[in-house]
Amino acid sequence: MRLTVIGTGYVGAVHAACMAEIGHEVLGLDVDEERVAVLAAGRPPFYEPGLSRMLQRAVTTGRLRFTTSSVEAARFADTHFVCVGTPQRPDSGAADLRHVEGVVDALAPGLRRAGHNGALVVGKSTVPVGTADRLAERLRAAGADADVAWNPEFLREGCAIQDTLRPERIVAGVHSARAEARLRAVYAPLLAAGTPFIATDTATAELVKVASNSFLATKVSFINAMAEICDVVGADVLTLAEAMGADSRIGPRFLAPGLGFGGSCLPKDIRAFAERAEEIGRGDSVAFLRQVDEINTRQRRRIVDLAQRLVGGTFEGRSVAVLGAAFKPGSDDVRDSPALAVAEEARRRGARVRVHDPEAVDNARAAHPALQYALDVAKACERADVVLHLTEWSQYQELDPAALATVVRNPAMVDARNTLDVQAWHSAGWQLCAPGRPRLG
Ligand code: NAD
Ligand code: UGA
Repeated sequence: MRLTVIGTGYVGAVHAACMAEIGHEVLGLDVDEERVAVLAAGRPPFYEPGLSRMLQRAVTTGRLRFTTSSVEAARFADTHFVCVGTPQRPDSGAADLRHVEGVVDALAPGLRRAGHNGALVVGKSTVPVGTADRLAERLRAAGADADVAWNPEFLREGCAIQDTLRPERIVAGVHSARAEARLRAVYAPLLAAGTPFIATDTATAELVKVASNSFLATKVSFINAMAEICDVVGADVLTLAEAMGADSRIGPRFLAPGLGFGGSCLPKDIRAFAERAEEIGRGDSVAFLRQVDEINTRQRRRIVDLAQRLVGGTFEGRSVAVLGAAFKPGSDDVRDSPALAVAEEARRRGARVRVHDPEAVDNARAAHPALQYALDVAKACERADVVLHLTEWSQYQELDPAALATVVRNPAMVDARNTLDVQAWHSAGWQLCAPGRPRLG
């Protein structure tokens, strides 16, 4: 089939490459000319394991091309996947829909005289419930002959290709049998491999996405709230999480206590959902999401406070080493990174902060130029008064605590992700503190 993928960021670039991989002819469209040029050369504009090879293969075989022309996109295919950003509005927690609206406005003239199949605009972006219907109305008002479906994206950065080619479910919000059949055809190889296909209306599909992210965020904040309780009563949150997670009704995933969630989606999605619920008169139904958000941002302050205590109550004249800048391991994405929020706050309070990350230093430097950066861990830790482990890259778990103890000024470590080997660090003479584990320090 011929498909377009509009917006070639994390979601769009991966979707475009994977759709070409399963045999479709794909045209990727973006307004960012530089991004289009990089992708057209078969290079991903961000770090995502496996994407580079897949893109090169797709571009070399000619199954994947890129353009900046909406006219060309409207002409190229009948099925258009919309993957543009839906960031938080600067003036509120609501989603900024200007990019999705921009896409349909740009496509509409080209869809006025669609071919015999009829055009299908398929939203993958995460949007407030009701958006698909509003976009369908917008297209109709512009005289375009197009159906709108919603097919939310559940991929995780760092394993985006696996999540796209072997998803746990495909959700298709459709208003017609024709739209459902089209989506089933697009995903035929995945469905043949047994992927569940859940066909529903567009409102339910839009809600599945924000409800899923809200549930994940709630799980993380729940365990971090328990960590706060553990700190007061001298209990151990890791054992608590392990024992809770052993209950198959609860499950162990997304119960990792620590610095909390960040990234381009969970934080903005729970805020947008809370705002949308207010708009439809049901703010009380998801009022808990405001607390989920508060608990989450509080973890960042708690880590900075803990580090400040470890360096003697003031950051003035102190050196802080930060391990990790990406919002999670396996990604170079620093959007709303908890690690960088902590690093910035320590700097604001007077510390000299040096940050290491295996992949995200360039992005971090662009977003936080006032911080210092080091290309290896030992350099970041040189003469540090405290080391903060903020993003749990596997290479940090393999560090030699004895060797690192010789480069720091004071062997004090905050394991804000609860993944370091406590025994090993203690044996090498380190004071190691972690949220929710008061007996360690
Ligand atoms: P992104 O910011 O990485 O990429 C968005 C792209 O859209 C950019 O390249 C931008 O130039 C382009 N764009 C903006 N307006 C355009 C227009 N009018 N026409 C063509 N291109 C345009 O965003 P992302 O992280 O890929 O997220 C996209 C959407 O998917 C968001 O709604 C997000 O919530 C959702 N989502 C993201 C992830 C993720 O892991 N990043 C996962 C699931 C869902
Ligand atoms: C998340 C969802 O997992 C995806 O299903 C969804 O598609 C995506 O958001 C989206 O809508 O954009 P992602 O943001 O890539 O994916 O990252 P996650 O792996 O979910 O991690 C999110 C944050 O939660 C990270 O900062 C991570 O460190 C934190 N986290 C995760 C915890 O603090 N504890 C946990 O137990 C799990």
